[in-house]
Amino acid sequence: MSSASIIESWVTNATAWSQAIQQEAIESRKLVTNQAMVMTIAKHQPKSLLDIGCGEGWLCRAAQKTIPSLSTIKGMDAIEALVDQAKTLSPHLAWEQKSYQDLIAGASHNQELYQIISINFALFEKELVELLLLALPNYLLENGRIIIQTLHPLMACGDAAYEEGWREGNWIGFSTAFKDPHSWYFRTMAAWVNLFCASGLILDQMQEPIHPKTGKPASVIFELVPRS
Ligand SMILES: C[S@@+](CC[C@H](N)C(=O)[O-])C[C@H]1O[C@@H](n2cnc3c(N)ncnc32)[C@H](O)[C@@H]1O
Repeated sequence: MSSASIIESWVTNATAWSQAIQQEAIESRKLVTNQAMVMTIAKHQPKSLLDIGCGEGWLCRAAQKTIPSLSTIKGMDAIEALVDQAKTLSPHLAWEQKSYQDLIAGASHNQELYQIISINFALFEKELVELLLLALPNYLLENGRIIIQTLHPLMACGDAAYEEGWREGNWIGFSTAFKDPHSWYFRTMAAWVNLFCASGLILDQMQEPIHPKTGKPASVIFELVPRS
């Protein structure tokens, strides 16, 4: 599986994705996971937020509306069309077309530092995610933390064996406008925790937001701080 094919898939689906988010077409987001992510960030009363893999930028906009302590908010995504959409929807916020690969490559240079780096349903790879988690502390202030919301392994596993590895993608549950799904790397809960340990990160807090209709976890949220 190459990073390029994941990027290509998001180029193809940028418009469909923006529409799905604007129309609140993903029920679990509307009912649970959006608010869970915003509240997790808000409880730290951060002054600065960097949202990477930001898509069309809903999280930056929601954070700006609901977290008064924030004075710096920036969204980054690899896909030009998504960053353009974010700029159109919220020209007053800061946006940058930047990939995880760019962040990894730039980690040793001087750069802006943030109190919170958020990643919402935007980690799909194996090695790239490993390298990203090693690089991100370089973008954090001293008291900073990384907040990741991702698919809950229990729910995302489906009928396959509960073991980490690449899985075929699909757009089941999405509109027919979505094409060319990309593969993604499934991690068990133990695989996530072991990845954090190997990256020099401490799992400070973890939540499993529950879907009100199914009573099952809609996602998992990890709060990570660099080991000092
Ligand atoms: C499921 S969408 C989530 C977008 C947004 N975080 C949200 O919650 O709506 C996944 C996002 O990850 C971005 N992405 C995927 N690979 C990336 C990479 N290598 N660098 C930066 N962004 C990437 C995609 O462009 C897409 O916007």
